[in-house]
Amino acid sequence: MDEAREAAGQRASARGTDRSTVASRRRFLGLGAGVAAVAAVQACGAPSAEPVGPRSRSVREAARARQATGARRVGVDLPAKPSEVDLGGLRVPTWTFNKQLPGPEIRVRRGDVLRATLRNELPEDATVHWHGIALRNDMDGVPNVTQDPVSSGKEFAYEFTVPDSGTYFFHSHVGMQLDRGLYAPLIVEDPNEPGRYDDEVVLVFDDWLDGVTAVPEAQLAKLRREGMSMSGMGHGGMGGMGGMQEGERHGGMGAGPLGADTGDVDYPHYLINGRVPAAPFITDAKPGQRLRLRLINAGADTAFRVAIGGHHMTVTHTDGFPVEPVETNSVLLGMGERYDVVVTVGDGVFPIVASAEGKQGQAMALIRTRSGAAPSAMVRPQELAGRPLMAEVLRATEQVRLPSGTPDRTHTLKLGMDPSAKYRWTINGRTFDQRKPMPISRDERVRLRFVNTTMMFHPMHLHGHTFQLAGGKGPGARKDTVIVRPMETVEVDFLADNPGQWLVHCHNTYHGEAGMMTVLSYMA
Ligand code: C2O
Ligand code: CU
Repeated sequence: MDEAREAAGQRASARGTDRSTVASRRRFLGLGAGVAAVAAVQACGAPSAEPVGPRSRSVREAARARQATGARRVGVDLPAKPSEVDLGGLRVPTWTFNKQLPGPEIRVRRGDVLRATLRNELPEDATVHWHGIALRNDMDGVPNVTQDPVSSGKEFAYEFTVPDSGTYFFHSHVGMQLDRGLYAPLIVEDPNEPGRYDDEVVLVFDDWLDGVTAVPEAQLAKLRREGMSMSGMGHGGMGGMGGMQEGERHGGMGAGPLGADTGDVDYPHYLINGRVPAAPFITDAKPGQRLRLRLINAGADTAFRVAIGGHHMTVTHTDGFPVEPVETNSVLLGMGERYDVVVTVGDGVFPIVASAEGKQGQAMALIRTRSGAAPSAMVRPQELAGRPLMAEVLRATEQVRLPSGTPDRTHTLKLGMDPSAKYRWTINGRTFDQRKPMPISRDERVRLRFVNTTMMFHPMHLHGHTFQLAGGKGPGARKDTVIVRPMETVEVDFLADNPGQWLVHCHNTYHGEAGMMTVLSYMA
């Protein structure tokens, strides 16, 4: 009953549901939430409610309330174009921002107004999405939901206040473009943050096939045609170079923390900052220095287990927000997740390895304090063994915790697969084009309950908000992307304080494009 009531966007009692209510509910649900769609929902006795569109007055008012007078403005030019990039002795044709891979880092301060002009020199539509940023809805970059896609040869100026500090990234939100090279870090500094580190390094992880084995669109078409062929990949009979070590396996059947089936695509390369392990990205440091590493998983179908040879690390943030520090040998990042860790650098040349979880292969970068032989591209630091840290063990710091409370509304998102198709991923049995927008109201405390009914993990991402993991033991981490493991249920809470139409989706780009996306719709 609870859900039927929510689906109808009603706040009144569901008891008196009569024919006309059901009819109007059907009408609303059938709309598919185009930007222009305006649906009146007649709830029993409640005033009619309609979707708060991206260009509505409440979106503009929320944007105005976020912007401080005299805020600094930062202007950036973002040409998106076909380009050839050098992955380290390997030149490939792809699509990038500003001919760079990753694209040019944007660095601002909390409270700044960022104005970034996308110049679309690609042969097809594009947009830019500002992943993790609680920005105004009309700048969120979701084609046909928050804006018209920017067509080839056209420009679009994204302009918004950046309200929270932390490690973010931006990427195209059209089709499979994220699995090309259209991504870059977005770092938001906090002038008042205590700097308990001497220097910092941004490390962006990616799984790479574009221009090598297939373009991502062809890879997706193949999955749709043939279904998943990767099951079992990376399991059994391995042990060769780049394979998993014994200590990295857990439970039965050799499955790791994400289960036995961790991906749909077998990538030929894994990159850190656009480089293959044979020609790695190198950061120079001094022994004893405290380095803050900003780790970003920009991959499309790969979780990365990250460790540094000879070092342990202290996790200080995830998805931009601070957590009570935890020490670990390794962290596991789902697609779209970020972690900030601090390490005290030893003396020598050390590998930072991002191992493709449950797949064969890895990315590598180096921390170097003096000259010396670089470790082999196949090096497997022992720190990779054992259980990697995941977000569930983290707790938000006091100052970023949500006030405690019970949810005003709960939406269940059942993550599934359509058994009648080779490759179609669903939320509550529907693909994105058949979606039923999920109603929420301003100032509610909303709970999302992700119920994974599949045998793959899904990194679920919410736009425009930072939720808090429910966690058994009190307030968990604030995040915008959370791994939901096979057959697991994960609950997150957020405050509905940013009106508009907001995507919720799996950040596996192949799953998302094959349907696993929906929309949370503010109603007013
Ligand atoms: Cu980074 Cu809708 O995604
Ligand atoms: Cu998924």
